[in-house]
Amino acid sequence: MRRKRHLVIIGLLTGLVFVALYNGLVIKKYTINTSKLDAAESVRIVLITDLHNHVYGKNQTKLVSLIKEQNPDIIALAGDIADDHVPIAGTELLLDGIKGLAPIYYVSGNHEFWSNDINRIKNTIRKYGVTILENSYEQISINNSSIIIGGVDDPDITKYEKPDLDWEGEFYNAFSELENRSEFKILLAHRAELVEIYKKTYFDLVLSGHAHGGQVRIPFLLNGLYAPNQGWFPKYAGGIYKHESLTHIVSRGVSYNPRLPRIFNPPEVVIIEVKGEETSPITSPIVNLFSG
Ligand SMILES: [Fe+2]
Repeated sequence: MRRKRHLVIIGLLTGLVFVALYNGLVIKKYTINTSKLDAAESVRIVLITDLHNHVYGKNQTKLVSLIKEQNPDIIALAGDIADDHVPIAGTELLLDGIKGLAPIYYVSGNHEFWSNDINRIKNTIRKYGVTILENSYEQISINNSSIIIGGVDDPDITKYEKPDLDWEGEFYNAFSELENRSEFKILLAHRAELVEIYKKTYFDLVLSGHAHGGQVRIPFLLNGLYAPNQGWFPKYAGGIYKHESLTHIVSRGVSYNPRLPRIFNPPEVVIIEVKGEETSPITSPIVNLFSG
């Protein structure tokens, strides 16, 4: 009887370890409702961050197939897609697999600047028809909806390429004219921890990465143990965060490093469904004409 109980405990612990260390790709879905799109309209965004040139399956087929299955309207690459140590082949295989599938937008992450070869990385990415957003934005039509999509270079641009750049000031300047635009506005910005800066702009949705899900998670108890630039118990390790009119989605990323295991934190491909909703009717106050 005791032996049987021990076997059950060992079995459960083995299962738990297996689940904790699982590092296959998973899909994470979020839905955002907005009156800036017509009620019947929707836009599906696939968000990929922090690939660090890792290759999933032979020639990146696992990641590419997963993205294709989502039938995206926009593909957003929010930084650290390439890396400063791993060859860029993983990024090229991904882009070769998804080119032409949907408009693809990219912003840099810190590791791309750390490579000291940012221009070559951007030129390589550009070859696949990707739009590189560098403190810039464009308006695109998806289905029957008009969307604005902008992006900003990682702030480490000031350490490696433009030491005199006022990163924050230029960021506000670049997007100040969006104040009066009525379209749904999306920003790609690699750093999750800089949300206080993003909040001062006019974007409806910000897509970030960089935090790697806080590396170690405990379901229902701990959403991340440590993240770069946030430290221990990061506030923005991964998930969806509401800030008044701004929604911030932080991907846990698709990084994979065997020397730094992810615990209860499998690499994730994020799907965001932006759905149109009816504008609330304006209600007039009821006036009692017969009152004194
Ligand atoms: Fe990063």
